[in-house]
Amino acid sequence: MKNPIIGIMGAMLEEVTGVIALVENPVKQELGMRTYYQGKINGVDVVVVFSRWGKVAAATTISTLITEFHITELIFTGVAGAIAQNVKVGDMVLAKRVMQHDMDSRPLLPQYVIPLHKKIFFENMEEHLQESEKTITEFLTNQQINQQLLEQFNITNPKLWIGDIASGDQFFSSNEQKKQLADAFPTVLCVEMEGAAVAQICTEYNIPWTIIRTISDSADDNSSTDFQRFIEEIASVYAVEVIKLWVTPQTPNKASTSQPVPHRRG
Ligand code: ADE
Repeated sequence: MKNPIIGIMGAMLEEVTGVIALVENPVKQELGMRTYYQGKINGVDVVVVFSRWGKVAAATTISTLITEFHITELIFTGVAGAIAQNVKVGDMVLAKRVMQHDMDSRPLLPQYVIPLHKKIFFENMEEHLQESEKTITEFLTNQQINQQLLEQFNITNPKLWIGDIASGDQFFSSNEQKKQLADAFPTVLCVEMEGAAVAQICTEYNIPWTIIRTISDSADDNSSTDFQRFIEEIASVYAVEVIKLWVTPQTPNKASTSQPVPHRRG
């Protein structure tokens, strides 16, 4: 069996900075305008990197993690805008399936279909979801974030959702964008800018992937309100605490089979 090496990627520098601080004896390597930090978290080999924003940036970063750093598994943490009605700021979403809402090769292929893969969604694996679900639930149940701070963002009882995530090279900031996506994909819980690209490359290299998103905004006319402050004060704490719990010596066994799970929401 290969020596397990966990790739940890994030699209917000504030989140990744906290995770880098967890790395014991980090060794830095600069490649393609990114800095990769190799070392150990909880005794497990990791490589941590800030991917930058969007599908191209994410795809090139995950390719480098796989081909240059030989990761055996990938976890991506970041923020997302809420699409489904009951998903709230402060909730977390674990990706069961991911799709690209801006993929459109019509008339050659139906809208949203990924060329050559002949499908719209990349789907995650049973074991992976169950273990990650336990980890995130443990975090949300025991989280120690200052109550006053949570109240400032109207966060009460943050919840874990497991389901569909849409990715694309657009920051959603209007009611119209949100409605269009929700109408086209009623099962989509949230929108972000990297996950589907990461899942596609991981699938192509047969690398198990996990995508965990914290809801930072409502992906509508109000989406930019408090966005930066949310990243700095809440999302960065979520990312660090989840990674501390998620990266354990058992982590590499999380993805040992490839059974798709039936669809679940909430
Ligand atoms: N990531 C966080 N919020 C987002 C939004 N509103 N649109 C796209 N990606 C996001």
